[in-house]
Amino acid sequence: MYPDLQKELATFQRRTPKSAEAHQKNLKRIPLGVASNYRHYDPWPIFVKEASGSKFRDLDGNEYIDHNLTFGALMAGHCHPAVMKAVEKRLSTGTMFGMPHDMEWELAEEICQRFPVEMCRFGNSGTEATMHAIRLARAATGRDKIIKFEGAYHGLHDSALVSVKPHAPEFGDVHDPISVSGGLGVPKSAIANVPVATFNDLNTVERRFKENPGQIAAIILEPILMNVGLCLPQPGFLKGLRDLATRNGALLIFDEVKTGAKLGWGGASEYFNVKPDMVCLAKSIGGGFPLAAFGSSKSVMDLISQHKVFHGGTYNTNPVSMAAGLATFREVLTRDNYLHVDKLGRKLADGYRKTIARVGLQAYVADAGVNGALMLYPKEILNYRDWTTIDTDLWRHYWFGMVNRGIMPQPYWWDEQWTISVQHTDADIDRHLAAFDDIAASLAKAQQERTERVPAEVAH
Ligand SMILES: Cc1ncc(COP(=O)(O)O)c(C=O)c1O
Repeated sequence: MYPDLQKELATFQRRTPKSAEAHQKNLKRIPLGVASNYRHYDPWPIFVKEASGSKFRDLDGNEYIDHNLTFGALMAGHCHPAVMKAVEKRLSTGTMFGMPHDMEWELAEEICQRFPVEMCRFGNSGTEATMHAIRLARAATGRDKIIKFEGAYHGLHDSALVSVKPHAPEFGDVHDPISVSGGLGVPKSAIANVPVATFNDLNTVERRFKENPGQIAAIILEPILMNVGLCLPQPGFLKGLRDLATRNGALLIFDEVKTGAKLGWGGASEYFNVKPDMVCLAKSIGGGFPLAAFGSSKSVMDLISQHKVFHGGTYNTNPVSMAAGLATFREVLTRDNYLHVDKLGRKLADGYRKTIARVGLQAYVADAGVNGALMLYPKEILNYRDWTTIDTDLWRHYWFGMVNRGIMPQPYWWDEQWTISVQHTDADIDRHLAAFDDIAASLAKAQQERTERVPAEVAH
């Protein structure tokens, strides 16, 4: 570990003793001391006390401009007034019924107007949305296999926990990737049913169809791969997938858990002008409450109406989440607000680019809508394998450096990206850019020293 990273880590430890203490307590009863593995990192995760608008405060009283925003689930920002008002109003009229009510039709209508689906069902998490979409695709085609992309994350069910973060040598050749379990407990049969392909490489997808004739029910993907920082589909890739799915009688599932609300008014299908057969939504559609949906054509969704595919859930369409969802669609995810966040997004990305050029850092910024990431690579990454070449110490230097300057630049881990909420302001972006400007030279210096050192180490 090089000295500037050590300094940032020491500062972090000095600033966050109460988080350290709280983490120690959690560790006694909760594995890793956190409720989701993604929240864990060394030396300890920041524990949050409260949040509002674009900011949160930790247990030690440090304030941060928040671009983690719950792993991109809060494009509304914290406690958006319209969402809070709608929720507070509902709280006193019953928090769940387990029976239908009149907000269901309204929210389904909002979704069917924005996304290329005719009907939808609701749930509480992205995991549920992709799990039910996959089951429906299997039912609609009478086939078992699902093509997914190496490195992509679609939640925690068995069909999704395949080749999420696989390693060499198990993952095989990039042109013929091997399906690798995402952890113990995933049945071998589940893995066998999920052949993997390489993002931005249509040949690997075509190969999977050839190897499994008449067996592929669907291709599932995030239209922008957001489990490797931010990896954009290359021109023609999504359209190529659309054609391959159609030619082979398989469904195309867009997992829009992240992109759905954040990329623009009509999500990725509008943004890229490619029409999937099924759409999965969650995260930012709930405005801070657990809400998910999956939708498709009437003919596919009718499998549920005909009792051929089973779907249920005690907490589905609970009125609190539905009120939050309705307020989010109507008062947060508005065309005007997209203009506002797009402007901030461009300002943030352009500001990073200027600083990167000024200090000579070998890096680029990838961005789309309210999401973006500092990508510490000499050239654009196209897939998961490219992503694995990152200098993780350099990334940690960036992240802790920003956090120590009051900016949560994105969730911890270099596979994530920043989110901008509708409550962020120009002043927030100015502060974010000032912090990056402050540490960028030391990042460039560390990178430079490493490149000088590495050939020397190899030579010895
Ligand atoms: C693209 C994508 N799909 C699905 C999920 C799973 O969503 P959840 O954590 O709500 O189950 C996530 C979560 O990060 C995601 O990013």
